[in-house]
Amino acid sequence: SILIVDFGSQVTQLIARRVREAGVYSEIAPFQSAAEAFERMRPRGVILSGGPASVPEEGSPRAPQAIFDSGVPVLGICYGQQVMTQQLGGTVEKGMSGEFGEAYIGVEDACGLFDALWDEGDRHQVWMSHGDKVTALAPGFRVVATSPGAPFAVIADDTRRYYGTQFHPEVVHTPDGGRLIGNFARHVCGLTGDWTMAEFREAKIADIRAQVGQGRVICGLSGGVDSAVAAVLIHEAIGEQLTCVFVDHGLMRTGEAEQVVSLFRNHYNIPLVHVNAEPLFMNGLAGVTDPEAKRKFIGKTFIDVFEDEAKKIGGAEFLAQGTLYPDVIESVSFTGGPSVTIKSHHNVGGLPERMNMKLVEPLRELFKDEVRELGRELGLPDAFVGRHPFPGPGLAIRIPGEVTKERCDILRKADAIYLEEIRNAGLYDAIWQAFAVLLPVRSVGVMGDGRTYDSVLALRAVTSTDGMTAQAFQFPGDFLPRVATRIVNEVKGINRVTYDYTSKPPGTIEWE
Ligand code: XMP
Repeated sequence: SILIVDFGSQVTQLIARRVREAGVYSEIAPFQSAAEAFERMRPRGVILSGGPASVPEEGSPRAPQAIFDSGVPVLGICYGQQVMTQQLGGTVEKGMSGEFGEAYIGVEDACGLFDALWDEGDRHQVWMSHGDKVTALAPGFRVVATSPGAPFAVIADDTRRYYGTQFHPEVVHTPDGGRLIGNFARHVCGLTGDWTMAEFREAKIADIRAQVGQGRVICGLSGGVDSAVAAVLIHEAIGEQLTCVFVDHGLMRTGEAEQVVSLFRNHYNIPLVHVNAEPLFMNGLAGVTDPEAKRKFIGKTFIDVFEDEAKKIGGAEFLAQGTLYPDVIESVSFTGGPSVTIKSHHNVGGLPERMNMKLVEPLRELFKDEVRELGRELGLPDAFVGRHPFPGPGLAIRIPGEVTKERCDILRKADAIYLEEIRNAGLYDAIWQAFAVLLPVRSVGVMGDGRTYDSVLALRAVTSTDGMTAQAFQFPGDFLPRVATRIVNEVKGINRVTYDYTSKPPGTIEWE
């Protein structure tokens, strides 16, 4: 296994993901408890993450000395490179200005990290993000790659198998980064790369049992893949101690509620309480137009309903959720980190303080595509697992302005036509997420001999690998006109259809 020591970088989970992709098991430990984790795991390699602190500053975090004493290979990334340099006898100085974003490095020499991947004389794109820099190497190290702004872009000590990169190999903007991390895990640490999702499943089941003990758990099903996978996994771990609660907020797409209920009750035989809370949500949303206010209301009301159900069931002290890593990173502002709240994801940011249940979130370190893989591993039907993501607040955040039942019904019809056409064209699986947005804008049209003055609908379809970045999907030429015609003809209340070409960033996938 590999131990990842977390110094607080926003992208530490991406390191874990890259290690998983190389088929190697890893665990992340915050630097404060890394010594215990190292002792317990006895890993075959260690990766030191980046972080917001500054090595020259007094009191900044250090890696446990035991790691360097043990002789295991170490890869230090950004802050990790600097902390390793400092601890092994080199020097790091505060940079006057940082270097951020895309850069090109030149490979100057071969080293174990580059084996069968990068050759001397190559130039490669990388993603830099650092303020401080190494100014003198620790004994035993040499420089193996440089860039104009980073004379120590990659350093290596092949004898001790220590490597450091000033750039971030874990992010997609370093195109070969995943393979570099794979090289570290397999070539340098000698790990075989046969770790699978099946083992993740076993490990998580053990974690869930340890966390929950004999306690009772309520799992909130949202209708989407994430909460379903979480529920099936938890059911496998603790069986009858789990009760699922499906809060039907009336903000689902056509047929979705029925599918969830049938999957759980008939296919898995998991106890499911189906709460029809549509009136509660619709009344509460009346007059609410601010996106964050909608999200907060929906998140809070969900929890209210859960709490009520928990009381009825009696004795449930845990609430399970299908929170994924991108939900965590985008809605939490880490202390000391540069991240700001973009949206309050309803499974994280909307939780009211007063909620008095403990959280069970077994998917917290996974990305969407990994959750799908886990779902297949757990035997969920392909059609369900392959479903496009659907946000917890549902159609409410696809109706800018006030949400009413009438507008939900209009949107449901249009959305169903759009998705039906996408499926018929065989494009569903090529798209990460496709949906319609009902705009609070009316436009003039002509139908037959009459004038119309109805709502505008925006269609959106994006490709993405993890939801963190996205591009607009390019439909074949005749597709969008056909969908536009069908929607305007078949859905009363819509007389104009547009297509949204914005990438993320600068847009987000959902409109609110
Ligand atoms: P954005 O709009 O932030 O969306 O680019 C990224 C991905 O997250 C989904 N999303 C949510 N999922 N609860 C969820 O479970 C939420 O509150 C939520 N908001 C957005 C969105 O559909 C996209 O896949």
